[in-house]
Amino acid sequence: MRSLPEIISVTERELFLKHVAQTSPSPLAFEIAKAEGCLLYDVKGKEYIDLVGGISVANIGHRHPKVIAAIKAQLDAYMHVMVYGEFVESPQVQYAKLLTGNLPSTLNSVYFTNSGAEAIEGSMKLAKRATNRTQIIAFKDAYHGSTQGALSIIGHEYWRNAFRPLLPDVLHPDYNSFESLNEISERTACVIVETIQAEAGIVVPSKEWIRGLRKKCTETGTLLILDEIQAGFGRTGKLWGFENFEITPDILVLGKALGGGMPLGAFIADKKLLDAFTGDPVLGHITTFGGHPVCCAAGLAAMKALLEEKLFHNAIQKEKLLKSLLIHKKIKAVRSFGLWLAVEFDSFETNKKVIDECIKNGLMTDWFLLTSNCLRISPPLTISEDQIKKACKLILQASDNL
Ligand SMILES: Cc1ncc(COP(=O)(O)O)c(C=O)c1O
Repeated sequence: MRSLPEIISVTERELFLKHVAQTSPSPLAFEIAKAEGCLLYDVKGKEYIDLVGGISVANIGHRHPKVIAAIKAQLDAYMHVMVYGEFVESPQVQYAKLLTGNLPSTLNSVYFTNSGAEAIEGSMKLAKRATNRTQIIAFKDAYHGSTQGALSIIGHEYWRNAFRPLLPDVLHPDYNSFESLNEISERTACVIVETIQAEAGIVVPSKEWIRGLRKKCTETGTLLILDEIQAGFGRTGKLWGFENFEITPDILVLGKALGGGMPLGAFIADKKLLDAFTGDPVLGHITTFGGHPVCCAAGLAAMKALLEEKLFHNAIQKEKLLKSLLIHKKIKAVRSFGLWLAVEFDSFETNKKVIDECIKNGLMTDWFLLTSNCLRISPPLTISEDQIKKACKLILQASDNL
């Protein structure tokens, strides 16, 4: 006889497939009951090591006690009270202060949004408004979100095609190619680039190229927008991805780990630049829930914990351990940058078999959107060495069984 929770879970799974809008014919449909630190638990109480981290969201681990406490305290004060930008809301103000205090001095003003894609939209609008130009340059294999503006700059025609017409005047030259720099001109409003390409499967550009990009943008009066929605908050072993390349963007776009597990995005620039939104037209970007006080309180507590507990300081050590263990004849390559790895197999089919076997054995992972033959490793930065060893053992075991 099945236990009561089992019956409930079957029902919920059916309801999920029937009433929750689906985005693929075969969703993971993992029935989650609880998440804590680096572990997930399904409705049957089975434990899983989490190598996905909500896709680079749970950098400080799931349900960090300081984040939970901050959320509860904010709930007791107020939740949504006014559209963005009118009331002085302490969680927003304090979080903007902490963020800008940990960024170069030109990144001193924060526009909070609901999501990463909304922050990308806002940054593109700001670039057009501030430069009076229209051309936008993004790169092949880039992923910046799924709204129509963000979709226009995604670097793969498969994802764009069905939704045309999209934004005009967008170019997609090759990432990490010096020839691409020739496309940037006095017509270009902005170049949007992932500091490290995420969904392309952790593609790291050369320092010379990123610096060349910075130089060309400065020469042509083009704004350089760095998308660090996945690369930020310690993922690369430094607080910000761009610190690895010793450049500063004109606009920095953040999301995912920014909210400490709550929905939050942001684009950050010099106040002089962001002031372009205050006139002609006023309210250059409008959002009701952007910078929600509960989300800002959670994000603020998460970033404080990240900094105070030095949670990203041994990311490189953990990356090295993972790379030393992930050696197998079926693994074609391991690309990485900090605690952020793509394990490449010969095909999606092989990767999917490994992933399914891993999940069956208590290891949560998935593939990358634009490189489906690569297995994702972007766990909470708090993952222990023992958990890493166990995870690698399960990946190798699944590779043996192919
Ligand atoms: C690099 C990058 N940019 C932008 C986005 C869009 O963020 P969101 O899903 O919060 O809209 C994502 C989401 O996966 C991302 O990985």
